[in-house]
Amino acid sequence: PLPPPFQVPLPIPPVLKPVSTTGGIDRYEITQRETAVEILPGIRTPLWTYEGTFPGPTIESRRGRPVTIRHRNELPVPTVVHLHGGRTPASSDGYPTDLVLPEGWPGTARGHHGMHGMGGMRDPRAVESRITRDYTFPLDQRPTLLWYHDHRMDFTAPAIWRGLAGLHIVRDDAEEVLGLPSGHRELPLMIADRAFGDDGALAYPALDPALRERPGVEEPYLAGVLGDVVLVNGAPWPVHEVDAARYRLRVLNASNARHYELEAVTDDGRRLDLVQVGADQGLLAAPVVHRTLPIAPAERYDLVVDFSGVPVGGRVRIANRLGSGRTRDVMAFRVARKARDGSRVPRVLSTDVPSWRRSDAVRVRDFSFRAGRMGGGHGWLIGGRPFDPARTDATVRLGDVEVWRLVADVHHPVHLHLVGFRVLSRGGGRPLARDAGLKDTVALRPGEAVEIITRFDGYRGRYLFHCHNAEHEDMGMMANFEVV
Ligand code: C2O
Ligand code: CU
Repeated sequence: PLPPPFQVPLPIPPVLKPVSTTGGIDRYEITQRETAVEILPGIRTPLWTYEGTFPGPTIESRRGRPVTIRHRNELPVPTVVHLHGGRTPASSDGYPTDLVLPEGWPGTARGHHGMHGMGGMRDPRAVESRITRDYTFPLDQRPTLLWYHDHRMDFTAPAIWRGLAGLHIVRDDAEEVLGLPSGHRELPLMIADRAFGDDGALAYPALDPALRERPGVEEPYLAGVLGDVVLVNGAPWPVHEVDAARYRLRVLNASNARHYELEAVTDDGRRLDLVQVGADQGLLAAPVVHRTLPIAPAERYDLVVDFSGVPVGGRVRIANRLGSGRTRDVMAFRVARKARDGSRVPRVLSTDVPSWRRSDAVRVRDFSFRAGRMGGGHGWLIGGRPFDPARTDATVRLGDVEVWRLVADVHHPVHLHLVGFRVLSRGGGRPLARDAGLKDTVALRPGEAVEIITRFDGYRGRYLFHCHNAEHEDMGMMANFEVV
């Protein structure tokens, strides 16, 4: 039985303590293990976790201060860790074949098997590790909300669904002097839908429930797996007590396939402004005010919401305009008390949002994101082809500015590793309000062409771009760019 909405308190994921901070590096250790957690009241749900919780522990970092994370795989299958939105050297970027093998897993000899009937695809560049792997993140990048999640070839979607996702926040001094709401008035909100069986176990229509051999989902779920329960920070439709003051909400849509359109509605039907101060890749130049805000899988919004006009005892519902029935609700805030508020939202938030122009670009590339046939079955293709780790789909020169034109058949949230980009145009016209700032994931809408512009900066090596509908990603909608 599902709980009534707005009863379960909002959990805040624990902040992980480094095991050491010497030599200018923060070192962490995370064990990936199975555990059972009470998500629905009174019943335990077996999960795959980082450190025993879902979401995994939050990592708090300073811009430019490197972090090393030793991941230990005690799960029954190989895993891969990717820091989404991280400007990361390729060797730590969690390439899908750079597996961390669990104890006793047969050596795959740099091979990868089982790609959706494509038969024993191999990746000669794969670097496998046994049981543990150290990932290094320089974090030389704009402060923002990142997230880490599994990225194993063909099995990313079910692994994230089972719980392999956590937050990583990067901060710096410039952001802190702005005076945005902070401390207990800054809340990370990881939104993710899930489906549960009667026994409390997560329901996922995998062809191979052990997630060992055969990737993919049952036929009716090819477009993506949706749940009927909306979790925020791992709790169903939670409620959080707030002061009558401004709050900073760091929102991530960690759902596999569900899109939301968020609004904040008071008991008397008034909509509170969603004041956007940041996008996927950090602060905007200036705030953007939304009445409702669509969010696609993997997108993040940094929002300020002011509860000061809500009477004490009143409630603000965060609703999903794209939902129906119970997926119309996300969570609620209950205004508990009047309080002093020294926070502010400055008119100028940052001055370092890149402003590349079309004329800066040395190249324009086209990529279509469409359904198609793949190895005799259904697939999701980029440029007419399913993912192949051995193929380079775009070779870009380090430091070059390029425009990429992305065209979709149905909704596809497209994500580039390594870089942040700007949305240059949408449907031949201007970008939408939701496209503001520096992004790493852009929501392509059905039939729409979106142009993005970026500089390929940071590191040389092999990186991915893909649809972040996790089921599309597993079923082929991923490609490589090589920075040279
Ligand atoms: Cu959030 Cu390639 O992933
Ligand atoms: Cu897609």
